[in-house]
Amino acid sequence: MARISASVYTSHVPAIGAALDQGKSHEPYWARVFAGYEFSKQWLHAHTPDVIFLVYNDHANAFSLDIIPTFAIGTAASYAIADEGWGPRPVPPVVGHPELAAHIAHSVITQDFDLTVVNKMDVDHGLTVPLSLMCGAQDPVHGAWPCAVIPFAVNVVQYPVPSGRRCFELGKAIGRAVRSFDAPLNVQIWGTGGMSHQLQGPRAGLINRVFDNAFLDRLVADPAGQAAVPHIDYVRQAGSEGIELVMWLIARGAMDDVAEVSRGAPPRELHRFYHVPASNTAVGHLILENA
Ligand code: DHB
Ligand code: FE
Repeated sequence: MARISASVYTSHVPAIGAALDQGKSHEPYWARVFAGYEFSKQWLHAHTPDVIFLVYNDHANAFSLDIIPTFAIGTAASYAIADEGWGPRPVPPVVGHPELAAHIAHSVITQDFDLTVVNKMDVDHGLTVPLSLMCGAQDPVHGAWPCAVIPFAVNVVQYPVPSGRRCFELGKAIGRAVRSFDAPLNVQIWGTGGMSHQLQGPRAGLINRVFDNAFLDRLVADPAGQAAVPHIDYVRQAGSEGIELVMWLIARGAMDDVAEVSRGAPPRELHRFYHVPASNTAVGHLILENA
């Protein structure tokens, strides 16, 4: 059977992708950001899974106000890189895993969660920046990401957005789905976006280190408690775009220690990083390994 070996959590920022793509990662401002991922790149290289289930949000690139899926699972064989206004990022296309994705779609929908099944989709910085942070720069033509990726897009851009509790319960359903896939696949689940930031209005530039670090602590030690926190608390304390953090609860919900059947031991915290700022955003990063 397939298993979830670890979960990875990281912020995304378009400027991080631009810094890598334009060869600026050694400038002091960016070097401090990338330093937090040195351990992670080595760890991922040594522990490359078969599939990464990558929870992220699209920023009106694949979707628009025409159609707003709350949860969208990518079932395609490959995904092109979105043009966000400056041409697509020069990174390799993303190779999917249609068999596992179709199984997860079937399993999660029959567990009563609504998913939109997406057979064609371009992926934006929400997905490619976490891959770049964890895998380093890749040649867009001759390079490749280290494994298959199943994109899982969550609407955290246009209200109404899903609650932290729903995300956590969905993560548990995804965990059950992966563990019922009849092939010995090693799967990682990544939760991305956040941490505190607000990009518009009078509070633009808001960062809240106290909130962010309490979130990291509680995501590890008390995810069910964190899942009960309502949206308005994120918006007030972590800024309007801080709501991206609810996506981390999907990845956390898939870990063995919160599974209802055959509950595992608490995960090991392999790595933690917190840094302010990258562009307008606080950068947070965690790696949790199932015991
Ligand atoms: C920034 C952060 C985001 O999450 C995003 O999607 C776009 C921009 C920023 O900090 O600039
Ligand atoms: Fe974002």
